[in-house]
Amino acid sequence: MNTLRGLFVFNLIAFAMAGLAPCIQLNDGYNIPILALGTGRGTIKESETLDQVRQAVFWAIEEGYRHIDTAAIYGDEEQVGLGIAEAINKGIVTRDQLFVTTKLWNDKHARQDVVPALRESLRRLGLDYVDLYLIHFPISEKADGSPDNIDHLETWQGMQEARDLGLARSIGVSNFNITQISRLVESSGVRPAVNQFEVNPTMTQEPLVTHCQNLGIAVMAYSPFGFVVSRKGSQAPPPGVDDPTLVALANKYGKTVEQIVLRYLIERGLIPIPKSTNKGRIAQNIDVFDFQLSDNEVATISRFNKNIRVVNPTDWKDYPNYPFERD
Ligand SMILES: NC(=O)c1ccc[n+]([C@@H]2O[C@H](COP(=O)([O-])OP(=O)(O)OC[C@H]3O[C@@H](n4cnc5c(N)ncnc54)[C@H](OP(=O)(O)O)[C@@H]3O)[C@@H](O)[C@H]2O)c1
Repeated sequence: MNTLRGLFVFNLIAFAMAGLAPCIQLNDGYNIPILALGTGRGTIKESETLDQVRQAVFWAIEEGYRHIDTAAIYGDEEQVGLGIAEAINKGIVTRDQLFVTTKLWNDKHARQDVVPALRESLRRLGLDYVDLYLIHFPISEKADGSPDNIDHLETWQGMQEARDLGLARSIGVSNFNITQISRLVESSGVRPAVNQFEVNPTMTQEPLVTHCQNLGIAVMAYSPFGFVVSRKGSQAPPPGVDDPTLVALANKYGKTVEQIVLRYLIERGLIPIPKSTNKGRIAQNIDVFDFQLSDNEVATISRFNKNIRVVNPTDWKDYPNYPFERD
C-alpha cells in the first residue's frame, strides 16, 4: 500500500470509528462528505408521504450522515429542512457540520431566475445558504414543460451570482455529458465543483467519470444501487441482488450486496447518494467504511456494465441540449 493510499485508509477508519462519512476536498476548497442521503423519490416503486422524508433526514443525521441531497423538483425541501432543524434543535449537529445539496429546476434557467429560485429553495429549507447548488439538467423548459432553448452558459452565470452572494458555497451541475462539461469549463473558465449523474453496476460511466476526475470535478453518483433494488415500471437487467458474484463478495466481507455496491462506488472515488426512508437501511448504507474492495473486485463489478439507465427521460429526447443517447 503506498503512503497516500495508507493515509486515505487511515482517515476512512478514523471517520468510521466516529460513525461519520469521510470528506474529500472540492476544487473550490470546501470539503464534501463522500456519502449522502438521497431524498428524491422518483425512481422507486412505492409511494411515500413527505413526512417520511423529514423522519429519514433526522434518522440519517442521528446515524452519522452529514450530507443530504434534495432538489426543488422533489417537492420535499421543506421536509428536509424540518429534519435538519430537528437534529440541530436536539443538539446532534450544528449547521456548519452539515452539507446540504439542492438543485435548480429546468424552468428557471434564465440568468435572472437563478438567484430567486435559490432564495425560494432556501426559504423552504429554512436555511441561509446551501453547501452545493446544482443545475439539475442541461436542458431548459418553459413553465408548461415545453422545450426552451436557454444556453446553460447563461444559467452558469446566474449560478456564479448565487455563489458570490453567499447563498451557495459551491456550485455545480448534474446530468451534463462530456461535451457539455468541456464547453462549460472552456467558455466560462469556472469549473463546476461537482457533476452529479447516474453511476451503478449497469451504468458504470467510465468515460464521463474519468473526464470529470481529470478536470478535478467531483462526481456524485445517483441511483447508486442500479437494478440491484427493484424499480417501478422497469425490466431489471443484471446484476440483481441474488447475483452470485455480488453475493460471494457480500459473504466474504460480511456485508449486504447493497453495501458492496456502495463500496464499489467509493473505491472509484465517487460520492454515492443512496435513498432510503427505512431506519435500518439508512443505518446499513453508511456502514461501508470498515472494509475495502480490491482493484480486481472493482474491475469485476465494472464488467457488469450494460449502459442501461435507471433514469432515462426519453420524453425530452428532442429538447435542445438533451444529454443522453437519443435511441
Ligand atoms: N440529479 C438527478 O437527476 C437525480 C436523479 C435520480 C436520483 N437522484 C438522487 O439520487 C438519490 C438516489 O437515487 P434513487 O432514489 O434513484 O435510487 P437508489 O438510492 O439507488 O435506490 C433507492 C431504492 O433502494 C431502496 N434501498 C435503499 N437502501 C437499501 C438497502 N440497503 N437494501 C435494499 N434496498 C434499499 C430504497 O427503498 P427504502 O427507502 O424502502 O429503503 C429505494 O427503493 C435520489 O433520492 C436523489 O436524491 C438525482
